Amino acid sequence: MGLFLCFLFIIISHASACNPCIKLTKASYFSKRSPLSLSYFSYAHGACDYGPIATNFYGELLAAGSPSLFNHAFGCGACFQIRCKDPVLCSGNAVQVVLTDLHHNKTADLVLSSGAFKAMAKNGKSQQLLKVGIVDVEYSRIPCEYKNHNLSVLVRGFSKRPSYLAITPVYQGGLAEITEIQIQKVNSSKWTSMKKKLGALWGVNIRQHDGPLSFKFTVTVYGSNVTFKAENVLPVHWENGGVYDTGLNLAKVGFKSCPPCTLMY
Ligand SMILES: *[C@@H]1O[C@H](CO)[C@@H](O)[C@H](O)[C@H]1NC(C)=O
Ligand SMILES: *[C@@H]1O[C@H](CO)[C@@H](O)[C@H](O)[C@H]1NC(C)=O
Ligand SMILES: *[C@@H]1O[C@H](CO)[C@@H](O)[C@H](O)[C@H]1NC(C)=O
Ligand SMILES: *[C@@H]1O[C@H](CO)[C@@H](O)[C@H](O)[C@H]1NC(C)=O
Repeated sequence: MGLFLCFLFIIISHASACNPCIKLTKASYFSKRSPLSLSYFSYAHGACDYGPIATNFYGELLAAGSPSLFNHAFGCGACFQIRCKDPVLCSGNAVQVVLTDLHHNKTADLVLSSGAFKAMAKNGKSQQLLKVGIVDVEYSRIPCEYKNHNLSVLVRGFSKRPSYLAITPVYQGGLAEITEIQIQKVNSSKWTSMKKKLGALWGVNIRQHDGPLSFKFTVTVYGSNVTFKAENVLPVHWENGGVYDTGLNLAKVGFKSCPPCTLMY
């Protein structure tokens, strides 16, 4: 009986998770710039505008996505597993990257940092792989994993306490995309929506909200919205450049009813 229950549990837990769809595309790499340096905004650090903190996500394993993967910057922070299909130059080991930028290369859906591109090569073949420059790959969206971080709020340098707050959500585990952020002065009943700005940046005028502040994050996964509340995230004297842990772990959110894969094989 115990064994039967155990099997039943395994079947149920499998049924409630999605297998990621595997897709085929080409991947290239950044030769002159990194996905954190100048991008299509002349002043920004990659189209997601993460800046140097992005190297704390997956190290140097970063990627720029096509407009459909970038998805108007809602794809910022999404994680992908990529496997190079070239049997001569590539080891076949998958590399995991996080999306930090947008590119407009029509041939490749993913343009990788050179470190991520080289990581797909067989031992001793990375220079040859760089020379080839573009390869067939299979890839899938996978949940991001940050073992030592919950979803956190990075307060951007141009915030002005107590009148203007600009933040970027960082270390967002899982598959969901943040589609709405609201803030509340602790113990007030009023929630105020933040406005999505360029990249993964959100801003709000907070004349009446000098802190401490609570947050609500609405995330969307496969078309369903779920809202999470995080109390007391920013202290009264929040600081520009500060990274504040929300206590929320989104790694297991949603994906009960994932859509069928269109390009699965
Ligand atoms: C896309 O990237 C490949 C490989 O780097 C390059 O050969 C090609 O010219 C690029 N295409 C565009 C439109 O930038
Ligand atoms: C919020 O209310 C609780 C309970 O009344 C109180 O202990 C706490 O100090 C209040 N916090 C602020 C920031 O006003
Ligand atoms: C989910 O939230 C987004 C952003 O607020 C909204 O545009 C969308 O309509 C919502 N979707 C559903 C199914 O409620
Ligand atoms: C993540 O959040 C939990 C509470 O939900 C907390 O116990 C834990 O310390 C947080 N982790 C970090 C690294 O702050």
